[in-house]
Amino acid sequence: MKNTAGTEAAKRAAGEAAAAEVADGDVVGLGTGSTAAHAIRDLGDRAAAGLDIEGVATSYQSRALAREVGVPLLSLSDVARVDVAIDGADQVDPDANALVKGGGAAHAREKVVASAADRFLVVADESKFADPLEYPVPVEVLPDALARVERAVRDADGDPELRAAERKDGPVVTDNGNLVLDCDFGAIEAPASLARTLSGVAGVVEHGLFVDVAETVFVGDDDGDVTRT
Ligand code: 5RP
Repeated sequence: MKNTAGTEAAKRAAGEAAAAEVADGDVVGLGTGSTAAHAIRDLGDRAAAGLDIEGVATSYQSRALAREVGVPLLSLSDVARVDVAIDGADQVDPDANALVKGGGAAHAREKVVASAADRFLVVADESKFADPLEYPVPVEVLPDALARVERAVRDADGDPELRAAERKDGPVVTDNGNLVLDCDFGAIEAPASLARTLSGVAGVVEHGLFVDVAETVFVGDDDGDVTRT
């Protein structure tokens, strides 16, 4: 389930402003989604012009794009730390303390890369802000644990919906071979507490609530201007 409201101009402005923070010699976390893709393309241009960077992809899509635009890649398992990670979000709270991610079903790797990063930069447009967060939280689930996790989400007053693949019958399968439940909790008044609850459910591989991880949110608008939150 993706939040697709923002314009390309706004996404490009945010992506390119965050990419400008990347310096020579950096290991860069490459996020997933249409906004992060602008950052990856910009980094490809700068790599072609001589910037010495190595990227760590968060998904099949970001790896493919990095290869296409010429960003050299390292494997996630080969890096102890990342200098800067740049990634999008499906919803952001006004203080950027909490985000919902995982519209592209990549939030498990995205969270590992964000956690390994000295700086986690979020790229977004104005449509992504909400107070409180209310976006259904993507939860990656081991297939055999699906029924168990659905019950646990209902016990936490959530409404889980198995994410269906857009182009074929059947569910979305993540890069890690798992399923995704989009879990509607209504207004999320206590994201940190909900994050802990979800992390405590056996069978949950990772959920899309990112709490206290973002350093800065780069917010693009339709005129190409960017503010930092
Ligand atoms: C993928 C994500 C994306 O970053 C999120 O869905 C935002 O994507 P976009 O920039 O296309 O709106 O979390 O798992």
